Amino acid sequence: MEEIKKIIANMIYNAISSNEITLEDIEDKIETPKDKKNGDFAYPCFNLAKILRNSPINIANQIKEKIVLDEKISKVEVVNGFLNFYLNSESIANDVLKEIVKKGEDYGKTDEGKGINIIVEYSSPNIAKPFHLGHFRNTVLGKALYDLYENLGYHVIGINHLGDWGRQFGLLIEGYNRFKDEYNLENNPLEALSDIYTRINKLAKEDESIIDIARENFKKLENGDKELYELWKEFREISLKEYNRIYDVLKSRFDSYNGEAFYNDKMQEVIDILDKKGVLKDSQGAKIVEVGDNMPPCIILKSDGTTIYATRDLAAILYRARTYDFTKCIYITATEQILHFKQVFEVAKYLVDEKYQKGLTHVSYGMIRLKTGKMSTREGNVVYVNDLLEEAIKKSKDIIINKNPNLENIDLVSKQIGIGALIFNYLKSGKNKDIIFDLDETLRFDGETGPYVQYTYVRTKSILEKVGFDINNIDVYKIDLGLLKEIQEVDLIKSLEKFESIIRKAANEYEPSILSRYLIDVATQFSRFYNECSVANLEDENLKYARCILVYATSIVIKRGLSILGIDCPEKM
Ligand code: ARG
Repeated sequence: MEEIKKIIANMIYNAISSNEITLEDIEDKIETPKDKKNGDFAYPCFNLAKILRNSPINIANQIKEKIVLDEKISKVEVVNGFLNFYLNSESIANDVLKEIVKKGEDYGKTDEGKGINIIVEYSSPNIAKPFHLGHFRNTVLGKALYDLYENLGYHVIGINHLGDWGRQFGLLIEGYNRFKDEYNLENNPLEALSDIYTRINKLAKEDESIIDIARENFKKLENGDKELYELWKEFREISLKEYNRIYDVLKSRFDSYNGEAFYNDKMQEVIDILDKKGVLKDSQGAKIVEVGDNMPPCIILKSDGTTIYATRDLAAILYRARTYDFTKCIYITATEQILHFKQVFEVAKYLVDEKYQKGLTHVSYGMIRLKTGKMSTREGNVVYVNDLLEEAIKKSKDIIINKNPNLENIDLVSKQIGIGALIFNYLKSGKNKDIIFDLDETLRFDGETGPYVQYTYVRTKSILEKVGFDINNIDVYKIDLGLLKEIQEVDLIKSLEKFESIIRKAANEYEPSILSRYLIDVATQFSRFYNECSVANLEDENLKYARCILVYATSIVIKRGLSILGIDCPEKM
């Protein structure tokens, strides 16, 4: 519909014919009214008042007089200072549905990001600990952003900046040496490591000497001690193996797992650059960089000479600018790290060109609380994602068996629905909203849930099957799509048309919930359409096929939209 916006802009431009107003300016100001009563597009004339020295209403009326309507527009009206444009439903039905049929599963893809590199850094758990609900939210957000940008043609680089370095590994090594024989590291290695860590951490609080050993261990590790390095590597592998199971389920992709450890030998350069630029200052034995009056300084080296989390992030920025030549580097973390990234991005201006520094973008997300219940009891409110996935799959299986006991592939479908429900639940609220998680609510088949949207897809499939409609055997150009004139049909077509701009908006605002909410809308519009307009039992063959194409187009948009979010569509449920 960007195309129609251009057409409208041109019509207005020609009607105004003033060289003080540019075509781009007009196009920029064209809006889509919230209330459909006000048309499909609106142009506010307020900013013209000064330039043309007249009231907005007069200007709007003058433009209306002079405007020559394109065939895609059925009428234009003046309301207050606005020009409201109404689309010709016949021509939009044709334009939109033919495009969807032509592009099929490529519908909504553009190449506007061609040649532009965008880094999406996401998930990034601290290794040797099980995946928890916060990581889950992070990972589904990141995966969705990755796909949104890819759909717009950007070259996306997914990075998992693992928390795999730091003094805690010196401590974990000590714990491992002491307690490893008490654990079965085959079965649940990650839980074992995390348990070992908790125990040794507790002991260290009572016994100073353990801290010394830990410090010594980490120092050895930093200096490349072979034995300790092997052990660390094993911790990392155990962790990744476990995480990868979850990444598979969530369909997250990473092009790099270079985490904090990777920057161990790359921090000296950062320190040298900062030093050379004269911004590295001494402060009570530590080395810091001032980052303005509104923030505490960024610590680069602690008083014992060791580097910290921020130092590694700075080295990563330098490395990524060189390696990926990024236009944007997006970091996804919980809100607790807002200050950290503000500081680091400030210091980055001493390290990389402005174009890279300007591209550094922190995207944060809100908390996840649990509605009290089974999931919250285990070990003081920590919920492991594996348990949650299993529980969701089990519950969705119960629901399906109840509804449709003869369904084929029940296990596969339960998985698609259970996991889809979880992902959708996380992505349907704005990223900064806290989520109160309630598994039963998440799995409902009606309301604003993943299963509801999946179910809409299944309905489209079963309608088409009933009619015996096969898109491959249809010549869409022979079908009169102008027959789709009912308000429910037109509304649905207009929704489907928005898919591309929704993807763009969701990417630009780092907000996959824009896409999730859109899919709920499409599902709701579809349901309104299907309640009012019969398909299978129609006598009029022409109308029947036109409606089938609308049903098919809906199936494409839902499938594509869910897939961007990481959700599969079952064919039956
Ligand atoms: N590992 C960190 C954590 O779990 C998140 C890392 C975020 N990314 C970064 N470049 N600092 O809190």
